[in-house]
Amino acid sequence: MKASVTVHRDFTIARIDDRLYGAFLEHLGRAVYTGIYEPGHPTADAEGMRGDVVKLVQELNVPLVRYPGGNFVSAYNWEDGIGPREKRPTRLDLAWHTSESNAVGLHEFAHWCQAVGTEMMLAINLGSRGLDDARNFVEYVNGPTGSHWGDLRRANGRAEPFGVKYWCLGNEMDGPWQVGHKTAHEYGRLANEVAKTLRAFDKSLELIVCGSSHSDMKTYPEWERVVLEHTYESVDHISLHMYFRNPAKNTANFLALSEKLDAYIGTVASTIDHVAALKRSKKRVTISFDEWNVWYHSNMQDRAILGGHEGWPHAPRLLEDIYNFEDVLQVGCILNTFIRRSDVVRIACIAQLVNVIAPIMTEPGGPAWRQSIYYPYYFASLYGRGVALKLSVRSPGYDADVADNVPYLDIAGVHDEAANALTLFAVNRHAAETLETTIGLQGFKAVRVLDHKVMTHTDLEAVNSLTAQANVAPKPGFGAEIGDGGMQMRLPPYSYSVIRVSLG
Ligand code: AHR
Repeated sequence: MKASVTVHRDFTIARIDDRLYGAFLEHLGRAVYTGIYEPGHPTADAEGMRGDVVKLVQELNVPLVRYPGGNFVSAYNWEDGIGPREKRPTRLDLAWHTSESNAVGLHEFAHWCQAVGTEMMLAINLGSRGLDDARNFVEYVNGPTGSHWGDLRRANGRAEPFGVKYWCLGNEMDGPWQVGHKTAHEYGRLANEVAKTLRAFDKSLELIVCGSSHSDMKTYPEWERVVLEHTYESVDHISLHMYFRNPAKNTANFLALSEKLDAYIGTVASTIDHVAALKRSKKRVTISFDEWNVWYHSNMQDRAILGGHEGWPHAPRLLEDIYNFEDVLQVGCILNTFIRRSDVVRIACIAQLVNVIAPIMTEPGGPAWRQSIYYPYYFASLYGRGVALKLSVRSPGYDADVADNVPYLDIAGVHDEAANALTLFAVNRHAAETLETTIGLQGFKAVRVLDHKVMTHTDLEAVNSLTAQANVAPKPGFGAEIGDGGMQMRLPPYSYSVIRVSLG
C-alpha cells in the first residue's frame, strides 16, 4: 500500500510548547508510595525517593508534573502534608476508597521535582474547599517570609518560596463523581473569584480552569462555553481530559480514537474563539490537556477496592494497567495529534507517570522498568521539540465507529531549527500492509539519517513485565532512503516509527 507526504519548511503550525510533554502524579494507589517514594529501597535517597525511578523520569525529560490529583485533590487538605511527619494525620481518601498517610506532601514532592529536574503544576481543591483555602495554599507555596504563611513554610524548613507558576483551579468539576461537583455556572463563578484573588497575589501565575472530563459528558461542550464566559479574562488555559479504551478488542476502532481527540480539541478551540468574540477579546485562552492515556486494562481488578470491599487500604495496587504493543500505536497517534494541534494545545500531561496508568512500573523493594508506552512518549519528548509542520498527507483510509476515512498513515513532523534536524513520527494503522511512503521535502534537504527506530510486534497484546522488561521495545529501523527530492520509507503493518534526519 502506498502513501505520500509533502513537507514544506514554511508550512508550519506553531512552535511546540515544551510543556506538551508534561505528566501527572496523583496520590492514588502506588503512584507515590512505593512508586516515587520508598524509604528503605536500595536506591532511595535521604528523603526516601527512589533513585531508579528518578533516573527513568529524567530520561523522559518531563517539563512539568501535575500534582496531587486528580479526583484525590477534591477532598484533600494541603495542610495535612506539611510539618513534622509524625504529626501528620492519616485521612480517608474518598475518591479511591483508600487511606492517605500524608508521609509525602508539598515539600517532599518539591524535593522530588528538583531531583528529576521538572516543574510543579499544583491543583487546588475546589471540591470540598473554597477561596480562602486556595489563597492560603498559594501564599504558603509562593509567599514571602515575614507573612504568616511564608513564615510557616520557613518553620517547615523552606525559607525560599517554591515559585510555582502553574495552578489548576480544581479537577473535573463537571463530573458527578467528583467530591463537590458543581454546575457550570456554580463552578465558573467560583473559579473566576479564585482566579481574581490569586491574581491579586501574583499576576504572573498561569491559571487552568476545568473543561470537560471527556467529550462524551452530557454537559460538553456547553460546559466550556459557560465556564469560559465566567472566567475568560482571568484564566490562561482550559483543561481537557481523555482516556482511550479497547474493551471490545477492535483495533481499527481503537486506533481511530485519535480522530475523536482531534475533534474534541477542535470543538473546544472553536468554543474559545466563540467566547473571545462574545467578550470582544483579543486574548486567546489555550488548552491544557492535563490528563490523557490508555486506561481500561485494570478496570475489573480495581472493582473490589473502589467498591469499598477491602476497607481503606494504604497504597494498594490500583489502576495498574499493564500496557501492550497495541497501546504503543495508540499513544503514538495521541502524541501526533497534540503535535498537529500545538497551535492551541500548550500543555499536556500523560496520566499518569508511575505505577498508576503509567509508563513506569516499580516493584516494592525491587526494580523499576519501562512499560511499552514509555517509548512513544520518550521519543516525542526527545525529538518533538521545535516547530510543528503542516504536512500534506495522502493515505488510503478506513471507516471506523468514530470517523470515516481514517488514514492508515498517522504522521507528525517537527523541525528542530536549533539542531537543524527534521523528525517524523509515523504510525501505520494497517494490520497487514506495509505502507510504502514517499516523503517529498520542499525547502529542506535531508542529508543523513541521525536516528531511525521502529516498534513492531507479532502480538498486539505483548507486554513488558518484571521478568520480561524489554519484550516490547524499539529496534533500529532500516530501509529509509534519502534521495534528491526527499525520502522513501517502508512502514511495516501495525508499527510505530520515528526517523530523524539532519538537514543541509
Ligand atoms: O487519572 C485517574 C483519574 O482520572 C483522575 O483522578 C481523574 O481526574 C480522572 O477521572
